[in-house]
Amino acid sequence: MPATARGEAMTRIGVYPGTFDPPTKGHRDIIERALSLVDRLVIGVGVNTSKAPLFTLDERVAMVQADVAALSGGKIAVKPFKGLVVRFAEEEGARVIVRGLRSVTDFDYEAQMAAANGRMSPGIETVFLFADPSTLAISGTLVREIARLGGDVSPFVSPAVAAKLAQKLGKA
Ligand code: COA
Repeated sequence: MPATARGEAMTRIGVYPGTFDPPTKGHRDIIERALSLVDRLVIGVGVNTSKAPLFTLDERVAMVQADVAALSGGKIAVKPFKGLVVRFAEEEGARVIVRGLRSVTDFDYEAQMAAANGRMSPGIETVFLFADPSTLAISGTLVREIARLGGDVSPFVSPAVAAKLAQKLGKA
């Protein structure tokens, strides 16, 4: 753990923001790996104003909480946030925003967000983790579509999330 100028231990706090509609095994991969980089990880379940999520904010927070419960060991908090992700990170005392990268398409969008966030809050760095190859094909859109069409989502999400999808879409 790094130390402050007065020699006190400094807690490295990271924020991992996302819509999590729903949380997938891809998110879980990034969360597990981010835990080795920070002392405390705050998973921010946010609002992307250009998306109309299938699940409510409360439902998404509950699904993420259930998915990370076994991992936690006191290092993870799951919180909803509204407004700018940099403001949320500042409120949480975080110096790092963690994002996952799957493809070149992700890169363009993420580079823009990281640049804008850096301009708004220069003290906060965005750190990118490359998604594990086994999770490259996963996206919320695909998972929702497979579930809507009655397909098996178990390769992509936890059993708890699969059950929530079935319940939400009336396929239970
Ligand atoms: N593996 C697999 N899939 C992944 C993944 C991973 N590691 N990481 C993300 N995804 C998928 C998600 O399932 C989602 O799929 P979908 O769009 O098909 O549903 C997609 O990638 C992107 O989702 P997400 O990571 O949730 O990001 P987002 O682009 O929806 O952004 C916020 C969400 C909350 C981080 C962003 O909108 C935000 O910061 N909002 C606050 C306002 C703000 O500050 N805006 C930025 C100003 S510069």
